[in-house]
Parts: sequence; C-alpha cells; structure tokens
Amino acid sequence: MHEKRSIPVLYSAQEIAERVESLAAELASQMPQEFLMVSLLRGSFMFTADLARALSGMGIHPRIDFMTLTSYGSATESSGTVTISRDISEEVKGASLLIIDDILETGRTLSFAVNLLQSRGASSIKSAVLLEKPGKRAVDIRADFVGFTVPDKFVVGYGLDYANHYRELPFIGYLDVH
Ligand code: IMP
Ligand code: MG
Repeated sequence: MHEKRSIPVLYSAQEIAERVESLAAELASQMPQEFLMVSLLRGSFMFTADLARALSGMGIHPRIDFMTLTSYGSATESSGTVTISRDISEEVKGASLLIIDDILETGRTLSFAVNLLQSRGASSIKSAVLLEKPGKRAVDIRADFVGFTVPDKFVVGYGLDYANHYRELPFIGYLDVH
C-alpha cells in the first residue's frame, strides 16, 4: 500500500458538487442542442462523469469521447511538448465540441487540443475546465467555462494527480511540494 500523507482541503466534495451543478446549468443555456464532449484524460475523468450526469438531469445529452494527451515533464512541472497517446474515435468534422480538462495552467494542453480539433473541421469549440491557475499562462488562451480559480499550489484529488496518485480523492486538496 502506498502511504498517503494528509492533504489539506481546498474544495470539499460538497463544494465541488454545487459548482459542477451550476456549471452544467451555464452549459445547458449556452451550448447547442447537439454537441460532443471531448474529455482530456486522465485528469478530467471525475469532472467529466459528474458534469455529464448533471447535464443529463437538465435534459442535455451530449456524445462523449476521451482523448489522452501527454505533456512530458516532471511530476509537478509540465514541459512544452504535448502529444496524443490515445485519440478520440468520434467524427469531429462539422460537430460542436466541448473540450473538458481538469486544470488550465500554462495553456499548452488546451491550446494543443483546440488546434488539433479545429484542424479536423469542428464547427465550433468551447472549453470547460474544472480549475484554472492564473498567472501561469505560456499560451494566450482562456477557457469558456471555469469551475474554480485556484491559488498557485500543486492541487490533487477529484481526478488530479501527483505521479498518478490522489486521483481517487473526492475533494480537491494541495501538496506542499514547491
Ligand atoms: P497546462 O498544459 O500547463 O495548462 O497544464 C495542464 C495539465 O497539467 C493538466 O491537465 C494537469 O494534468 C497538469 N497540471 C497542471 N497543474 C497541476 C496541478 O496543480 N495539479 C495536478 N496536475 C496539474
Ligand atoms: Mg496530470
């Protein structure tokens, strides 16, 4: 068993659930009737699942697919290079897309995904990120929908990892690694 250190809570499971519900309401009012959710793995799996359930409760029924993007670097700092390690299989040409990511930091991951899907002929692309860290952008990009703006800490839980640990936590906390 991997020993887990205690993780200070930034957003409780309850706070996340409430925020996801209100994000879903924003999406329901602003997205077209038909769209494809492209969930960026692995970090956004929990957010995607909860958001999809909340949307369903509001009568919104998107198609859902998953793409794994890898940004090489150490466990806590991403490098500049993003590659596709698992692609979606849904047709993108002519589709309205909603890209889902866990956290917008340098912006490299999201801008890579936007450019890629644009080049495949998406008719529109919006993005929803659970978290955003301001002041860290290396690429000039904004998300259309943002759950929480977090302080400059390394956050884990609710899908977010440190070396692939802590993803299972039902809350978002932080590590003191810097
Ligand atoms: P970006 O490409 O720098 O915007 O970073 C996006 C990716 O880096 C996310 O999808 C996460 O996988 C990872 N990341 C950035 N900051 C954190 C953090 O504080 N905790 C966990 N993962 C992070
Ligand atoms: Mg990660």
